[in-house]
Amino acid sequence: MLADRQVALIGGGHIAEIIIHRLTQGKVLSGARIIVSDPAPSRREHLSGRFGITPAVDNVEAAQRGDLVFICVRPEVVQAILPDLQAARLGPDQVIVSVAAGIPLSTYESLGEKQPLVRALPNPPSRVGQGIAPLVFSPAVTPDQRELVLALFDALGEVVEVEESHLNAITSLSSPVSTYLFFQALIDAGVGCGLPRPVATQVASQTIVGSMAVWRSRQAAPAELIAEASTPGGVSVESLAVLEQHGFEAAVVDAIAQGAARAAELGKESSST
Ligand SMILES: NC(=O)c1ccc[n+]([C@@H]2O[C@H](COP(=O)([O-])OP(=O)(O)OC[C@H]3O[C@@H](n4cnc5c(N)ncnc54)[C@H](OP(=O)(O)O)[C@@H]3O)[C@@H](O)[C@H]2O)c1
Repeated sequence: MLADRQVALIGGGHIAEIIIHRLTQGKVLSGARIIVSDPAPSRREHLSGRFGITPAVDNVEAAQRGDLVFICVRPEVVQAILPDLQAARLGPDQVIVSVAAGIPLSTYESLGEKQPLVRALPNPPSRVGQGIAPLVFSPAVTPDQRELVLALFDALGEVVEVEESHLNAITSLSSPVSTYLFFQALIDAGVGCGLPRPVATQVASQTIVGSMAVWRSRQAAPAELIAEASTPGGVSVESLAVLEQHGFEAAVVDAIAQGAARAAELGKESSST
């Protein structure tokens, strides 16, 4: 059971704080069972003051104490902490969970093929427990360890188990920016039609949330839901025709593809530093 285990976090920055916040707020794990190493005393003090985590003196101590050992340093720092992981002499009962963007599992090869490894990439809505995290498990991860990792990520939102080659596409697709831009455009459009901004904001936000709630309850193809909401000769078909004229769908497809290509480039740059 996760509540009886210890989770170590190497690096106590933004993503570490999100993970700690979700685990402690959801009472998944007590703060005392979360061990954090970070070079900045101010970060360790902040995290122990806010969540009651246990600060470690260094990365080696943190890694030795964790059943799950999270790598929460920036991608370009991962190579620098590998010697600490080696010095910790991790056993096959300890799982490394790397959340460093663009860093392949093969980076941790020097720890031996028996070392259980997980690569994960939680997205920003994880902060409120509504994230989506792709997970890649190495063959050394046992079914029990897999359950522990799934229980932990449950506190951050949904997970999807994928092949490592899919991560760049998911990195791009799971960014909330295009959704926020669409939201912003809807608000501006409402204001352009004469609505007060707070009214336009409320209507736009609830339309997005409500539309997704319908999809969740029905799991119908979006094209089917669009057809249902489009009365012939009505308001929605008029708007759809304009979106098509402006190449809305093509723009979204291109944007996500370009984002995935950029994720691949960044991954290559980080792996070579
Ligand atoms: N932020 C997100 O929403 C998010 C989401 C998914 C994945 N990630 C991944 O998570 C990783 C961390 O991102 P972040 O946004 O949390 O960055 P961050 O806020 O900069 O946190 C990284 C922390 O690691 C510390 N650090 C630096 N060198 C270290 C070392 N040798 N040993 C231990 N700790 C060290 C840093 O301290 P200093 O600041 O003093 O250098 C900093 O406190 C990245 O690889 C990123 O790709 C982030």
